[in-house]
Amino acid sequence: MTRPPGAAPESGQVPGGDGVDREWTLAELAAAYAYPEPPPGTPEPWLRANMVSSLDGAAQHEGRSQPLSCAADMRIFGTLRGLADAVVVGAETVRQEEYGPARAREAFAARRKAAGQGPAPAIAVVSAGLDLDFSLPLFTSPLVPTLVLTGAAAPPDRVARAEKAGARVVVAGDGASVDPARAVRALADLGMTRLLTEGGPRLLGQLVAAGVLDEMCLTVSPMLAAGDAQRIASGPPVAVPRRFALASLLEEDGFLFGRYCRT
Ligand SMILES: NC(=O)c1ccc[n+]([C@@H]2O[C@H](COP(=O)([O-])OP(=O)(O)OC[C@H]3O[C@@H](n4cnc5c(N)ncnc54)[C@H](OP(=O)(O)O)[C@@H]3O)[C@@H](O)[C@H]2O)c1
Repeated sequence: MTRPPGAAPESGQVPGGDGVDREWTLAELAAAYAYPEPPPGTPEPWLRANMVSSLDGAAQHEGRSQPLSCAADMRIFGTLRGLADAVVVGAETVRQEEYGPARAREAFAARRKAAGQGPAPAIAVVSAGLDLDFSLPLFTSPLVPTLVLTGAAAPPDRVARAEKAGARVVVAGDGASVDPARAVRALADLGMTRLLTEGGPRLLGQLVAAGVLDEMCLTVSPMLAAGDAQRIASGPPVAVPRRFALASLLEEDGFLFGRYCRT
């Protein structure tokens, strides 16, 4: 990760010994993206989102986000996972992006141990219908059990299948749907307060509308996609757009990596 010429040091430059910019190490990225220290007492959850968008607002191309991404984006993606207790993700993203379990990464092992975290974050799939392939490694062989966040009216046979596969089913809604605020609280009650959501847009829109999103990590990809792709957050508009403040901005190869926190 380097920075644009003339940018302030906090925007991301690490000068090498010879004065030439060099790539940020994963440890440096982890320090730059560290979760805020929780206030004393009951630990409060902190929910950050990580999304990528083209210049014209596309959140996917041909059903995937990968065509909008780059190697530096994937390094930040991996770093944010490396810092999180749980990765909250909508079922459609799990289906379309063929999610597997999160891996343990040597680069984050010491930091995770010191923070009292397991070897990798739990993936928490948000689903009402539970139309998921429970024979996939995401459910059968993760390092830490995958969570399924659903409503009380979830189909009982599918709940049973999820549990049989090894998933932990957490009810966070009275009907079919998950109540976003209740889901965040349920994860915090399980000791997972450093939360990351990777979308997709329909889930992120609800997290925004419910007022539970604390931070937005947005990669702006120097690409134009046209078409009718979703934006990074969809669903009904909020009454008043939520205001966020820029916390940091990194650049590599024309890609911008912004980090915005709620004001
Ligand atoms: N640009 C990016 O950074 C980025 C990130 C992620 C995904 N994407 C792209 O976005 C697309 C998928 O996103 P999407 O918006 O269509 O779907 P999504 O938000 O990933 O998932 C929607 C699904 O999540 C479940 N869900 C969402 N809210 C729920 C609630 N309140 N209660 C219960 N279940 C709920 C439902 O699952 P069930 O149908 O199982 O009930 C729903 O169909 C893919 O093309 C992916 O590539 C882009």
